[in-house]
Amino acid sequence: MKVENIRIQYDTYVSQDELESSDLELLNAARANLKKSYSPYSNFKVACAIRLGNGKIITGTNQENASFPVGLCAERVALSAVDAMHRGVKIIEMAITASSERHEIDHPIAPCGNCRQAISEAQLKSGNAIKIILQGESGQVFIFKSIDQLLPFSFNHEYLQ
Ligand code: THU
Repeated sequence: MKVENIRIQYDTYVSQDELESSDLELLNAARANLKKSYSPYSNFKVACAIRLGNGKIITGTNQENASFPVGLCAERVALSAVDAMHRGVKIIEMAITASSERHEIDHPIAPCGNCRQAISEAQLKSGNAIKIILQGESGQVFIFKSIDQLLPFSFNHEYLQ
Protein backbone atom coordinates (compact mmCIF):
# COMPACT_ATOMS: atom_id res chain seq x y z
CA MET A 1 0.00 0.00 0.00
CA LYS A 2 1.35 3.43 -0.93
CA VAL A 3 1.26 6.04 1.82
CA GLU A 4 0.24 8.62 -0.80
CA ASN A 5 -2.92 6.62 -1.47
CA ILE A 6 -4.12 6.73 2.12
CA ARG A 7 -6.67 9.54 2.11
CA ILE A 8 -6.75 10.89 5.63
CA GLN A 9 -6.19 14.17 7.36
CA TYR A 10 -2.96 13.42 9.11
CA ASP A 11 -1.27 16.19 11.00
CA THR A 12 2.21 15.44 9.84
CA TYR A 13 3.90 12.63 8.11
CA VAL A 14 7.55 12.32 8.77
CA SER A 15 10.37 9.87 8.32
CA GLN A 16 11.59 8.01 11.39
CA ASP A 17 14.75 10.18 11.45
CA GLU A 18 12.64 13.32 11.89
CA LEU A 19 10.71 11.98 14.90
CA GLU A 20 11.06 13.64 18.29
CA SER A 21 13.17 11.36 20.48
CA SER A 22 10.29 10.81 22.95
CA ASP A 23 8.00 9.71 20.09
CA LEU A 24 10.66 7.35 18.76
CA GLU A 25 11.14 5.94 22.26
CA LEU A 26 7.40 5.21 22.51
CA LEU A 27 7.29 3.61 19.05
CA ASN A 28 10.25 1.43 19.96
CA ALA A 29 8.55 0.43 23.22
CA ALA A 30 5.54 -0.72 21.16
CA ARG A 31 7.80 -2.52 18.70
CA ALA A 32 9.65 -4.35 21.46
CA ASN A 33 6.31 -5.74 22.62
CA LEU A 34 5.12 -7.14 19.28
CA LYS A 35 6.38 -10.55 20.40
CA LYS A 36 3.72 -10.56 23.14
CA SER A 37 0.94 -10.50 20.55
CA TYR A 38 -1.21 -13.62 20.65
CA SER A 39 -2.38 -13.79 17.05
CA PRO A 40 -2.30 -17.40 15.80
CA TYR A 41 -5.40 -16.84 13.64
CA SER A 42 -4.48 -13.69 11.73
CA ASN A 43 -0.67 -13.91 12.12
CA PHE A 44 -0.92 -10.13 12.30
CA LYS A 45 0.79 -8.68 15.36
CA VAL A 46 -0.22 -5.27 16.71
CA ALA A 47 1.35 -3.46 19.65
CA CYS A 48 0.46 -0.23 21.38
CA ALA A 49 2.51 1.78 23.88
CA ILE A 50 0.96 4.53 25.98
CA ARG A 51 2.90 7.30 27.69
CA LEU A 52 1.26 8.48 30.90
CA GLY A 53 1.48 11.85 32.61
CA ASN A 54 3.51 10.24 35.40
CA GLY A 55 6.17 9.20 32.87
CA LYS A 56 5.28 5.50 32.84
CA ILE A 57 4.94 3.60 29.57
CA ILE A 58 2.17 0.98 29.44
CA THR A 59 1.93 -1.51 26.57
CA GLY A 60 -0.62 -3.87 25.10
CA THR A 61 -0.81 -6.27 22.17
CA ASN A 62 -3.65 -7.93 20.28
CA GLN A 63 -4.97 -11.06 21.98
CA GLU A 64 -6.97 -13.35 19.71
CA ASN A 65 -9.37 -16.15 20.52
CA ALA A 66 -10.58 -19.28 18.70
CA SER A 67 -13.99 -17.65 19.01
CA PHE A 68 -12.91 -14.77 16.77
CA PRO A 69 -15.11 -11.92 18.09
CA VAL A 70 -13.71 -12.48 21.59
CA GLY A 71 -10.29 -11.28 20.43
CA LEU A 72 -9.01 -7.90 21.62
CA CYS A 73 -7.10 -5.22 19.77
CA ALA A 74 -3.76 -3.99 21.09
CA GLU A 75 -5.03 -0.46 21.70
CA ARG A 76 -7.87 -1.56 23.96
CA VAL A 77 -5.67 -4.04 25.82
CA ALA A 78 -3.26 -1.18 26.57
CA LEU A 79 -6.05 1.24 27.51
CA SER A 80 -7.58 -1.35 29.86
CA ALA A 81 -4.20 -1.87 31.51
CA VAL A 82 -4.01 1.89 32.10
CA ASP A 83 -7.46 1.92 33.70
CA ALA A 84 -6.70 -1.17 35.78
CA MET A 85 -3.33 -0.03 37.08
CA HIS A 86 -3.12 3.76 36.72
CA ARG A 87 -6.68 5.01 36.88
CA GLY A 88 -6.98 8.79 36.74
CA VAL A 89 -3.49 9.35 35.35
CA LYS A 90 -3.41 11.41 32.15
CA ILE A 91 -2.60 9.78 28.82
CA ILE A 92 -0.13 11.90 26.89
CA GLU A 93 0.46 9.87 23.73
CA MET A 94 -0.01 6.48 22.11
CA ALA A 95 2.21 4.71 19.57
CA ILE A 96 0.85 1.84 17.48
CA THR A 97 2.78 -0.53 15.24
CA ALA A 98 2.21 -3.87 13.53
CA SER A 99 4.01 -6.73 11.84
CA SER A 100 2.87 -9.60 9.70
CA GLU A 101 4.27 -13.01 8.87
CA ARG A 102 3.17 -12.59 5.26
CA HIS A 103 5.09 -9.45 4.25
CA GLU A 104 6.89 -6.46 5.69
CA ILE A 105 4.47 -3.73 6.70
CA ASP A 106 5.99 -0.57 5.23
CA HIS A 107 3.06 1.78 5.98
CA PRO A 108 1.19 2.90 9.11
CA ILE A 109 -1.74 0.71 10.20
CA ALA A 110 -5.11 2.38 10.76
CA PRO A 111 -6.59 1.80 14.23
CA CYS A 112 -9.99 0.10 13.86
CA GLY A 113 -13.25 1.94 14.50
CA ASN A 114 -13.86 0.32 17.90
CA CYS A 115 -10.40 1.40 19.05
CA ARG A 116 -10.93 4.94 17.78
CA GLN A 117 -14.10 5.13 19.86
CA ALA A 118 -12.24 3.73 22.90
CA ILE A 119 -9.39 6.23 22.45
CA SER A 120 -11.96 9.00 22.12
CA GLU A 121 -13.48 8.06 25.50
CA ALA A 122 -9.97 7.82 27.01
CA GLN A 123 -9.20 11.31 25.70
CA LEU A 124 -12.32 12.74 27.33
CA LYS A 125 -11.40 11.02 30.62
CA SER A 126 -7.83 12.25 30.38
CA GLY A 127 -8.93 15.83 29.68
CA ASN A 128 -6.16 16.56 27.17
CA ALA A 129 -5.50 15.82 23.51
CA ILE A 130 -3.88 12.41 23.09
CA LYS A 131 -1.12 12.42 20.46
CA ILE A 132 -1.14 9.34 18.23
CA ILE A 133 1.91 8.01 16.39
CA LEU A 134 1.56 5.27 13.77
CA GLN A 135 4.25 3.36 11.91
CA GLY A 136 4.49 -0.09 10.36
CA GLU A 137 7.71 -2.07 10.56
CA SER A 138 9.33 0.54 8.33
CA GLY A 139 8.39 3.55 6.26
CA GLN A 140 6.72 6.81 7.09
CA VAL A 141 5.25 7.79 10.42
CA PHE A 142 1.84 9.43 10.77
CA ILE A 143 1.37 11.80 13.68
CA PHE A 144 -2.05 12.99 14.85
CA LYS A 145 -2.32 15.60 17.56
CA SER A 146 -5.64 14.21 18.80
CA ILE A 147 -8.02 11.28 18.25
CA ASP A 148 -10.46 13.88 16.88
CA GLN A 149 -8.52 13.78 13.62
CA LEU A 150 -9.10 10.03 13.33
CA LEU A 151 -12.67 10.09 14.64
CA PRO A 152 -14.42 13.36 13.93
CA PHE A 153 -18.05 13.80 15.10
CA SER A 154 -17.66 11.04 17.68
CA PHE A 155 -20.41 9.72 19.91
CA ASN A 156 -19.86 10.78 23.52
CA HIS A 157 -21.57 11.19 26.89
CA GLU A 158 -23.23 14.44 25.87
CA TYR A 159 -25.67 12.49 23.68
CA LEU A 160 -26.83 10.51 26.70
CA GLN A 161 -28.06 13.51 28.67
N1 THU B 1 -6.01 -5.25 15.41
C1 THU B 1 -5.55 -4.48 16.45
O1 THU B 1 -4.95 -5.00 17.41
N2 THU B 1 -5.77 -3.16 16.40
C2 THU B 1 -6.43 -2.51 15.40
O2 THU B 1 -6.70 -1.32 15.50
C3 THU B 1 -6.78 -3.26 14.17
C4 THU B 1 -6.71 -4.73 14.28
C5 THU B 1 -5.80 -6.70 15.48
C6 THU B 1 -7.05 -7.48 15.73
C7 THU B 1 -6.68 -8.84 15.19
O3 THU B 1 -6.01 -9.58 16.21
C8 THU B 1 -5.67 -8.54 14.09
O4 THU B 1 -5.30 -7.19 14.26
C9 THU B 1 -6.21 -8.74 12.69
O5 THU B 1 -7.41 -8.05 12.54
